[in-house]
Amino acid sequence: MTDTALPRRRAARGPFAGLAAIVTGGSSGIGYAIATTLRTRGAQVAVLDLDPAAAPPGTLALPVDVADDASVRAAVAAAVDGLGRIDILVNNAGIGAQGTVADNDDDTWRRVLDLNVLGVVRTTRAALPHLRRSPAAAIVNLGSIAATAGLPQRALYSASKGAVLALTRAMAADHLADGIRVNCVNPGTVDTPWVARLLAQADDADAERAALEARQPHGRLVTAAEVADAVAYLAGPNAGSTTGIALAVDGGMQNLRPRR
Ligand SMILES: NC(=O)c1ccc[n+]([C@@H]2O[C@H](COP(=O)([O-])OP(=O)(O)OC[C@H]3O[C@@H](n4cnc5c(N)ncnc54)[C@H](O)[C@@H]3O)[C@@H](O)[C@H]2O)c1
Repeated sequence: MTDTALPRRRAARGPFAGLAAIVTGGSSGIGYAIATTLRTRGAQVAVLDLDPAAAPPGTLALPVDVADDASVRAAVAAAVDGLGRIDILVNNAGIGAQGTVADNDDDTWRRVLDLNVLGVVRTTRAALPHLRRSPAAAIVNLGSIAATAGLPQRALYSASKGAVLALTRAMAADHLADGIRVNCVNPGTVDTPWVARLLAQADDADAERAALEARQPHGRLVTAAEVADAVAYLAGPNAGSTTGIALAVDGGMQNLRPRR
């Protein structure tokens, strides 16, 4: 839905009943799965995306460009208007970048850092006054295995996700006293439209997919639903003692060295 009216719902049930969430980038891939999971578990969900028309059914779909502060402020205000509150913020919107440190010009570095890092800053800044009023406030940021392992041809993307990891911990410390938990999820390679676009650019898409699968010790790509489950755990009331952590959802890619 692209308007700002939520469909009438019967009284919601589930661990998120009575809570409201914002998911940025919720119209595709991981964000779509997160928005769907939170809604299924009882939350009212606003999806803030460049492409609100593709947001999951039953969510409040709002246009935003997280690279633009005025747009973020307007979208967060509209989410509060529509949902009446914000308890959970999932900073998921992000873009990729390829190449070594020498391969991207300054404008590309600024654009990716502006979206992947300052996007988190802008949305959090706008949502904070509302999160402070919640009895169950949580922020979950989307990091990446690229923040914790050196991957080839990912210098700029890794720098952006490394910043998200450091920012997650700093925010967790700053907002402990506000009762806001802040964590991040670090996925490995996830089967989303993003990865499909990367594979489509490869000379041999099947060989590239096989290489990505083999890189993860469990031998396959992560699913968006698996990442959404991890986000829902960290965002939910049962994780009340968990803040400042990075939860890897990567088939063991970060920590395991299995024998082949
Ligand atoms: N797919 C992976 O393998 C993978 C792995 C680790 C981390 N991640 C992270 O997960 C997040 C989502 O990735 P995905 O694979 O689902 O991507 P995706 O490309 O499938 O979806 C991204 C969504 O973000 C939206 N978006 C892009 N720029 C935006 C902007 N400026 N303002 C608002 N919305 C914007 C897009 O419209 C889209 O709906 C990203 O932060 C990404 O870095 C992805």
